[in-house]
Amino acid sequence: MEKNIDESIQGSTLVLDSKAENTKKLFIESYGCQMNFNDSEIVASILAEQGYNTTDSLEHADLVLVNTCSIRDKAEQTVRKRLEKYQAVKRMANPEMKVGVLGCMAERLKEKFLEEEKIVDLVVGPDAYKDIPNLLKEVEAGRDAVNVILSRDETYADVNPVRLGGGGITAFVSITRGCDNMCTFCVVPFTRGRERSRDPYSILNEITDLVEKGYKEVTLLGQNVDSYLWYGGGLKKDFHKASEIQKATAVNFAQLLDMVAKAHPALRIRFSTSNPQDMTEDVLHVMAAHKNICKHIHLPFQSGSTRILKAMNRQHTREEYIELVDKIREIVPDCALSHDIIAGFPTETEEDHQDTLSLMEYVKYDFGFMFVYSERPGTLAARKLEDDIPEAIKKRRLQEIVALQQQHSAYNTKRMLGKTVEVLIEKESKKDANEWSGRTSQNMVAVFPKENYKAGDFVMVEITDCTTATLIGKAVGYSENHKSENSSTYG
Ligand code: 5AD
Ligand code: SF4
Repeated sequence: MEKNIDESIQGSTLVLDSKAENTKKLFIESYGCQMNFNDSEIVASILAEQGYNTTDSLEHADLVLVNTCSIRDKAEQTVRKRLEKYQAVKRMANPEMKVGVLGCMAERLKEKFLEEEKIVDLVVGPDAYKDIPNLLKEVEAGRDAVNVILSRDETYADVNPVRLGGGGITAFVSITRGCDNMCTFCVVPFTRGRERSRDPYSILNEITDLVEKGYKEVTLLGQNVDSYLWYGGGLKKDFHKASEIQKATAVNFAQLLDMVAKAHPALRIRFSTSNPQDMTEDVLHVMAAHKNICKHIHLPFQSGSTRILKAMNRQHTREEYIELVDKIREIVPDCALSHDIIAGFPTETEEDHQDTLSLMEYVKYDFGFMFVYSERPGTLAARKLEDDIPEAIKKRRLQEIVALQQQHSAYNTKRMLGKTVEVLIEKESKKDANEWSGRTSQNMVAVFPKENYKAGDFVMVEITDCTTATLIGKAVGYSENHKSENSSTYG
């Protein structure tokens, strides 16, 4: 599972079920985080009401939307290249098509986008998607259209996203938007605004609807899920202004997780992303108490050096992080851990880098996402710190981190040899049409012969072999935990 996102930023085109009465064609593609993919599903849903069905053909699209990521410079360059491609298609094959930019780059660059990229007709920030129908009218009238207003309370709770990516088996459900942590390297607080949580009942309704449609796994999404706090709407930072009743009836992340797990005992539940400073012991106890909550925490640590963590404004030390890892291992012993690491943050010394490697050595993560530091305009780090680590050194440190992670991933997959684990079948294996591919509770990918099993089945797989990142095995029956809703051929 380990990969370096910098090398694997990929777009994905979304195509949804057609509405017969719709005549216009939408081409929508997404870059960046899971949240962006989920947002594109929300946008496709809003546009389905405006007469648009999705298409995977740029040449035939009336409207092309690209949902963008600003997290690192490379992500933005990828989007710029896509805009060049749209320009070529517009010139050669589809002169009438309109182009819109959504997401974090739209928010960061605002009107400047229209000057910099002549092809762009429409610029819409992450909180303004409900305004797209109005903005399209502006575009149709020949005017440029921009809405990048960030909201205090928009959570799209009332939009039921169309489901595209998960093959009818897995789905994303957003629970918070924005981030208040203000890590000094991160552009997200500027592009996605302040943190707000979504009404737990709208979350539960969305999940119930997914379960009724046959979905088997949901991932609760947010930049910082552990800081989820519903007290009736509004910004997280304004919680202190809430009434006594609002405070007494507020729902935190541990409670939300418990509610979802109890309401749907047969559904697998994942969540991402956790930040060390916001993760509570309560969440760990809820994880331990429910079989259907997957035993995996994505727990970025960014750097193993307390000095660098301070410069990053991470609000936890190396020691506090280690304490949390120990606590996780004590309360949820079979919990897999993954990370995000940044190599070459300003002023990072060789000793700081060694601290990162030694923390990895201590935890032995199952997988992780590893990046070189990329200065982002407007962030505190960009304003206050010189990007002083030479590119070659950043890259060398990254390579050392990636190599160590590969060792740890191999160590963790090898530990599974001879064990029998529950796997949710998601899709056909890319390498072999006779094999299924699915994931364990710990988020490890497992492949095994199809036999008579079906996508969406929960099966027990005996692990007989492995590569660095993939378990290889043989199904030995259905999972006891999910007997009732497994394939009708059961037994
Ligand atoms: N440079 C490199 N990596 C970054 N990330 C966020 N901002 C930057 C940046 N400026 C990484 C962090 C974060 C993940 C989503 O992206 O590791 O956890
Ligand atoms: Fe960015 Fe830090 Fe918020 Fe993550 S927690 S989105 S890295 S500011």
